[in-house]
This record gives sequence, C-alpha cells and structure tokens, in this order.
Amino acid sequence: MMQKKRILIDCDPGIDDVLALMFALASPELEIAGITTVCGNVPAALGAENALRILKRAGRLDIPVYVGEEKPLRREYVSAQDTHGMDGLGETFMEPVQEIRPREGAVDFLLETLWAEAGQPEGAERAPLSVLALGPMTNLARALEKDPEAFAFADRVVSMGGSFRSHGNCSPTAEYNYWCDPDAAAFCYQRLGELGKPIHMVGLDVTRKIVLTPNVLEYMKQLDGELGGFIQQITRFYFDFHWKQEGVIGCVINDPLAAAYLADETLCGGFDAYTAIETEGICLGQSVVDSMDFWKKKPNSRVLTQVDPLRFMTMFVTRLFPAAGTEEQVRRVLEQILVPEGGRA
Ligand code: BDR
Ligand code: CA
Repeated sequence: MMQKKRILIDCDPGIDDVLALMFALASPELEIAGITTVCGNVPAALGAENALRILKRAGRLDIPVYVGEEKPLRREYVSAQDTHGMDGLGETFMEPVQEIRPREGAVDFLLETLWAEAGQPEGAERAPLSVLALGPMTNLARALEKDPEAFAFADRVVSMGGSFRSHGNCSPTAEYNYWCDPDAAAFCYQRLGELGKPIHMVGLDVTRKIVLTPNVLEYMKQLDGELGGFIQQITRFYFDFHWKQEGVIGCVINDPLAAAYLADETLCGGFDAYTAIETEGICLGQSVVDSMDFWKKKPNSRVLTQVDPLRFMTMFVTRLFPAAGTEEQVRRVLEQILVPEGGRA
C-alpha cells in the first residue's frame, strides 16, 4: 500500500515554487498540511498571495496559507524578481484571491503543526509529517531558534538549495536560497544536525538536470490547452531569463524536484555528509560539503547528486495531466523529446 505523507511547504512563490505546489496537489502520496511563505523570490506577503492563487485554481482554498519572515536573519533582503518577475509569476499579474486572505504567523503555525504530532495516541495510524523548504530557510531558522524540540516530530526536512559540485546560480559558488539568507541556512544545518534530523539537500547538482523545454511545454499544451497554456504564461519570463543568463533554452524547475523526491525518495541518490554554509565573504551562501570527511563530524545532511530526469518528468506530466494516460505512455513520448543526459551543461 502507498505510504501517505503529510507535508508543510515553506516556500517563496516564485514560478518553480508554484509548479512544485501544483505537483504536490496532484500527488496521491502527498497531503499538504499547510503552506508558509518566506521572503525570497518575492516578499513573503506577495508569495502568500501567489500560493492562494494556485490553491484557488486547484479548488483547494481549504489549505491554510501563512505569511512568514519578511527579512533574512542578518543580511539585507535581495529578492529574485529579476528571475521570477515583479509579481513572482512571470509578470502575468493574475487576479488576487478575494475570498480567503493569508494568515499571519508562519513560524508559530509551523511549530504548532509539528507539536500536534506529539498529541497523537501511541500507535495511532497517522501519515508522517515532513517539512519541505523551497525558499530561503529564514522561517525554519526562527522556528528552530524558538522551539527546537518541535522538530523531533518532523519525519524529514527536505530543502531545495545549495550545491555540491555544480556552480552557483547567483554567484560562482552560491545557490539563491542559501545566498539570500546564509545565516538561516547555516543555523538550520547545524542545529538540525545536532537534533539528529539531517537535511535532505536537493541542490543544483540534481535540479539543474530538470529542464522544462519548449518541446515538453508543447506536449503539455497538446494534452490540456488551458493548463499547458497557464504553465507557458508563467514560465515565459523564466525562459527569457534562462536564455540571457545561462544560455539555456527552457527553464530549470528546481522546486518540483524536491517535492517529487519527498513523494518518492528513490528518485534521487546521494550520500551523507557534514555540510556547512558560508556566511561571509566572496563565497557567501556556498554549501561546503565535507564529502571526504576531513572534519570528522557527524553527517547533518543527505546530499543528493543523482537523478533520472526522464523519470521525474514522467511523474510530473502524468500527475498534472490526467489526459496523458499511463506513466508508460508518457515516458514513450518524453523519450523522444527530452535531451539525453550529458547533452547539456
Ligand atoms: C531556488 O531559488 C529560487 O529562485 C527558486 O524558486 C528555487 O527555490 C533555486 O536556486
Ligand atoms: Ca523557491
């Protein structure tokens, strides 16, 4: 029988965050216990509006959305609106949701939801609760600072962020989520390690391999003009950014891979290691992975380095587009149109 997992999604929507939300909503293994937003791609309040927009499209306004931290722990806030558009959704300026408003107090909501696990009777059948962090780790750091014991009730903490061998995406060495709030990331890795809850790091080594190409987009539009058209609208800005910045035709969709990994951990492979995050100087935000065990420290991370992009894209298309048919049918189409591994930088 399929193992159900409940997830708290902490995010900064953000184009790829939205795709991750859509994936999670369409995944039978995942049940979203709540969404919290943090300053990252866009300010936290705007991210919450975007989360509501996606929930409304999915008819799931029953899922609570909480606004979190509007500033990194120490560093000045730098958004990624150059990448995601001023509205965070590729400058599509979707209608705001009127019927439900985001709530305040993301950090307390995270802690209360974790503590609610403690109230369960021994042996009660309940799906494990995990935290999926898709943005800078500021909310998590504040929660950990306030009440570290709550994290004993998290089954997994999965973070999209960092990189091991891949180059950065906002400096030569740093990935955006950890660069935006390096102090929060550094604190979370250290503290969660001490608490015996290593972070599953879904970093650029694996997410760079997940490229939404024009061909895949075209396939989506053929399957469902409305949904495929929506994905095209929100990713157009992201496509342009990737071409100008990285010479990529298409766009790297980081966050959905972290959601898919939580749904099925066999999707990515990696190793356990101690990871520290640089909080000063020219390597600010870099995730320094002690893969050779120089420091002789207990691993505080599981670093994912391998992924099968075809398998991911097959999951993504099959779940979001029921008209596509079975995984086998989707795989056969994608095999013709996905760039083979090794064929891209
Ligand atoms: C990460 O940064 C953001 O721009 C994306 O949403 C993703 O979470 C990739 O570096
Ligand atoms: Ca994100």
